[in-house]
Formats: sequence, structure tokens, C-alpha cells
Amino acid sequence: MIYVVGGIKGGSGKTTVATNLAVALALEGRDVLLVDADDQETATDFSAWRNERTEGRTGYTSVQLTGQAAREELRRLASKFEDVVIDTGGRDTTSQRAALTVADLYLVPFNPRSFDVWTLEKVTRLIQEIQTVNPDLRSYAFLNRADPRGSDNDEAADALRDTEVLQFLDAPLGNRKAYANAAAQGLGVLELHPEDRKASTEFRGLYQQITGQVPSTTGGKEV
Ligand SMILES: Nc1ncnc2c1ncn2[C@@H]1O[C@H](COP(=O)(O)OP(=O)(O)O)[C@@H](O)[C@H]1O
Ligand SMILES: [Mg+2]
Repeated sequence: MIYVVGGIKGGSGKTTVATNLAVALALEGRDVLLVDADDQETATDFSAWRNERTEGRTGYTSVQLTGQAAREELRRLASKFEDVVIDTGGRDTTSQRAALTVADLYLVPFNPRSFDVWTLEKVTRLIQEIQTVNPDLRSYAFLNRADPRGSDNDEAADALRDTEVLQFLDAPLGNRKAYANAAAQGLGVLELHPEDRKASTEFRGLYQQITGQVPSTTGGKEV
């Protein structure tokens, strides 16, 4: 399965979701490639730090690929791994388009606080264009950094529900310090000790909706 975590807004949580998804899939024993297609290299930095902190037991393979060349390279690599998770930058880049032409699933996090319809329209148009060359692409939208309460969540969720080319996943990730705490240790949120129960439950919920599988891991299993 080829997952692209994208969108056209910086800071929406793409790298957080991509790295946590790669870790979660690896915890399930799957053979995972994490591709950093963002020239900011945040996912690569995470993997390097994880490599150091876990003495090489990252559990997945990590590469950097950007630009148009990414497309053929991705096709080649995809056949060698069970899952490929691609982290993209916060713009409509050649890399993101190249990745989407070979992807199965497009995962687009939206931050309800900074939600704007303009971004949603641009993503919608991008998906429609890509579907002309990759008609099987499925696109999922979900809330990241959701507020514990308030109308922002509902407004964003309603707009996403109304968008036909995107399927809205009702599996919001809350605004949780656990993500930064885990990343600081080179870990995914499912690996944190002590477990942050709210963060891990939310992430498992999202994982389940994305993959159709219930993650078997309880917090802290080592890869
Ligand atoms: N659910 C969340 N709760 C708390 N902080 C988050 C969450 N998701 C992302 N962040 C933080 O927000 C910042 C931007 O996230 P990041 O994943 O790097 O976004 P992007 O890759 O889309 O630019 C990071 O500091 C990250 O730790
Ligand atoms: Mg990023």
C-alpha cells in the first residue's frame, strides 16, 4: 500500500502523521519504507534521530526522494516493500504530484484552528487532476490538533464531510504534547513510556480507519 501524507498547508501535521504511521505499521511487523519527499527533510531528521536513539532498530527503511524523478523510483521501490509512507511538503509540489500518481491512499490532515476553505478547494482540485491519471486514488481527510471543544472542529468537519473527492474520517487527533515528547525521543506516540492513553487511543482510531486493521500493539512494544 502506498500512502501519501500531504496537502498544501505547512504545519498541518503531515510529518507527524507520516512518521507515526510508519512506526505503527512497523510495530505490526510490516516491511515499511518511509519516503521523505519534502525538501525540509523533517522526516529524515526524525529517522536519523530515531536511528541514534534505538541503536539502529528504527523498524523501517528511510529514503529521501524529491522532484519528478521520484515517480519512477517510487514505482520501483514500492514493489520491494509492503507499505510505503510518503511525507510531502506544504505546497503543491512536483514531488507531491509525482507521489500521488503512484499512490493508493492520500491522507490529508486539517488543523481546525487554521482551517480555510481556500486550502480545501485547492486540495480538491489537485485530487481531481491526479484522478485523471490515477483513477484508483482514494483520498481521506481528518482533523489534526483538534480542540477539546468548540465550534472550529464542527465547522471544519462539516466542510470536509461536504467535499466529495475526499472521504472524511471521523477520527480526530487532539492537540497533544505526546507527539512532541515522543518525537524528542525518536519514538512514535504508540511507543511512549508511560503511555499517553488519550493520544495513543486517538492514533489507533485513525490507524484503524486508514488501514482497516486494528493495531495489535499496546504502548511501548519495541520494534
Ligand atoms: N496532534 C498534534 N498535537 C500536538 N502537536 C502536534 C500535533 N500534530 C502536529 N503537531 C506539532 O505541530 C508542528 C507541525 O507539525 P508537522 O507534523 O511538522 O507539520 P507539517 O509536516 O504538516 O508541516 C510540530 O511541532 C508538531 O510536533
Ligand atoms: Mg512536514
